[in-house]
Amino acid sequence: MIKKQIINEEILKSIDSNYVYNNEPINRFKKLNEPENIKLQLENLKNKISLIDNCDLKNNAKKMVFSDGNIKSQIMIVGEGPGEKEDEIGKPFVGDAGNLLNKMLSAININRESVYITNVVNFRPPNNRKPTSTEINRYSIYLRDHILIINPKILIIMGSTAMEALVGNNIKISKDRGKWKEIIIKNKTFTSIVTFHPAYLLRQPDQKKYSWSDLKEIRKKIDELNINI
Ligand code: URA
Repeated sequence: MIKKQIINEEILKSIDSNYVYNNEPINRFKKLNEPENIKLQLENLKNKISLIDNCDLKNNAKKMVFSDGNIKSQIMIVGEGPGEKEDEIGKPFVGDAGNLLNKMLSAININRESVYITNVVNFRPPNNRKPTSTEINRYSIYLRDHILIINPKILIIMGSTAMEALVGNNIKISKDRGKWKEIIIKNKTFTSIVTFHPAYLLRQPDQKKYSWSDLKEIRKKIDELNINI
C-alpha cells in the first residue's frame, strides 16, 4: 500500500510538478439550461408517442401532431385531436377550428404564438371521429407528462375529450365550463378551466356567448397571476 502510494507520487512528479492530484470523481454531466432541458424532455416524450403500437389512430394518420407554440409559456391549451389539415401539416389547430381559436385568443389580447398548444390524441382519428375512451386513456398518460414538462400556470381544457382526459367523464361540459379547477398530476396542482371547443362553436354559434364569458375569466386570471404574455 505504502509502496504503491510512493510509486504514484513518483510518477506524478516525473510528469509535471505543477499538477496536483485530485481524488474527486470527474462530473461528466453538463447542466442544461431550462429551455434546453424542456426541449430534451419534449423530444423524449415525442419519441415515446411515436413508439405507441397497436393503435388505429396512429396506423391511419399521415403525421404525428405533437404541439405548437412557446415551450416556455405559462398558458397551455389542450384540444381534442388533429383534423385533416393538422394531419397534413403536422401542427395542431391550423384549420377552421384553429382560425377561430386564434380569434378567441386575440379577443383577450393573447397572441397564439405566445401560448403552448397540444391535443389529447396526437394522431388524426379516421373521418374526424371523436376518440374513444380507450384511446383517450391511452394518450392521456402522455398528455399528463406533457403538462408536467410545460408546467403551465393556467391550463385551458377545450371540449369534452380534453375534459374526459383530465377531469373525468362524470361531469357535463355545459354545466362545468367556466369554473376554475385544481387538477393534480403527480403531486403537482394545475389551475385549470374547461371551456367549449372552437369546433363545437363553429357548429353551435349561439354558444359563443358562454365562450366569451370563459375567455374573460381567463384574461382575469392571467392578470391576477401576473402572467407575462
Ligand atoms: N381540433 C382539435 O381539437 N385539435 C386540433 O388540432 C384541430 C382541431
